[in-house]
Amino acid sequence: MESVLLFVGYLLGSIPFALVVGRIYYGADIRDYGSGNLGATNSIRLLGKKAGAVVLAGDIFKGVLACLLPIWLEVPLDPLYAGAAAVFGHCFPIFAGFRGGKAVATTAGVLLVADPILCLITFGIFFIVIGWTKYVAAGSLAIAPVLFLFSFFQEKIEYTYLFALFIPFMLFLHRTNIMNFIKGIEPKINDKNIYKD
Ligand code: G3P
Repeated sequence: MESVLLFVGYLLGSIPFALVVGRIYYGADIRDYGSGNLGATNSIRLLGKKAGAVVLAGDIFKGVLACLLPIWLEVPLDPLYAGAAAVFGHCFPIFAGFRGGKAVATTAGVLLVADPILCLITFGIFFIVIGWTKYVAAGSLAIAPVLFLFSFFQEKIEYTYLFALFIPFMLFLHRTNIMNFIKGIEPKINDKNIYKD
């Protein structure tokens, strides 16, 4: 049953809200525009705040639901692992050719259920970094080391391993943003029309 819920978590995470909303609002696949990312940031950038908020809510909700399932069904699967499967699904969605988002919103949903205090700390730092640098990707990249650091304040060593793996995972997902930082072309949060659509 545990592996079934891991798979269900992956399927939930694979629901490509940004693709669906993009098709409705934009009539196109948003991966062909902006940063090419199937996530809330690119949705806000391309579709506006309202459509972006729908994507954000959907992406958070996938993580929340994946985490809640083992609790509701009383399956002895750590909610964090069910949530991790959803995060993986969000980034490599079976329903969207394995080209998805960059983990952030779904991770927020997972942490909201699995560890609300850690969620508050992590996303507090996420927003502080964005406020300070004006780069969403910088805030996103701060999430993984923060989670790794705070994993030492809890008892499960498996969480430390999981969050350690999350660091290269996030670096890989943000490789284009990192290259953009190096080239000095990463768009700031308030930059408009930086991409040639
Ligand atoms: O949360 C995603 C963010 O880190 C980067 O998104 O679209 O600017 O590549 P984007």
